[in-house]
Amino acid sequence: MMTKGNAPALEELMKHAQKAAEHAYAPYSKFRVGAALKLTNGEVVTGANVENASYGLTICAERSALVRAVAQFGPEIRVAAVAVTNLNGMASPPCGACRQMLAEFIEPDAPVMFPAEDGVRTMAFKDVLPVGFEWKAK
Ligand code: THU
Repeated sequence: MMTKGNAPALEELMKHAQKAAEHAYAPYSKFRVGAALKLTNGEVVTGANVENASYGLTICAERSALVRAVAQFGPEIRVAAVAVTNLNGMASPPCGACRQMLAEFIEPDAPVMFPAEDGVRTMAFKDVLPVGFEWKAK
């Protein structure tokens, strides 16, 4: 786990995630997730999970925040910190798909805060996704 130097800022980011979770559209799972991204430009962008009757089309809170951030601020954005939470009082680390999507835009040392089995945990992104896929153009 990471040291707590940036703990107050992360706590603040977590409040944004909590609020975003209230906007989740989760009539099927009833699992309401919120995510907040702190960008290196200082902006905070939030997302919530949006489900679909065709279950596989569901988008997670983390990816909904990410695509919103790119749409709002452009492809040059960099993510400096992530907070994820849910309103169900359960563990919800970012899923593998969300980790891979975040990898494209996030700083390796960016803290990622999420509810784990043993309480709220903060990890550096590079430890959350140690071996992500990267495209190396020839
Ligand atoms: N979900 C997220 O929003 N983020 C994750 O990282 C994992 C899962 C959502 C998707 C679905 O709407 C619900 O949680 C149950 O899987």
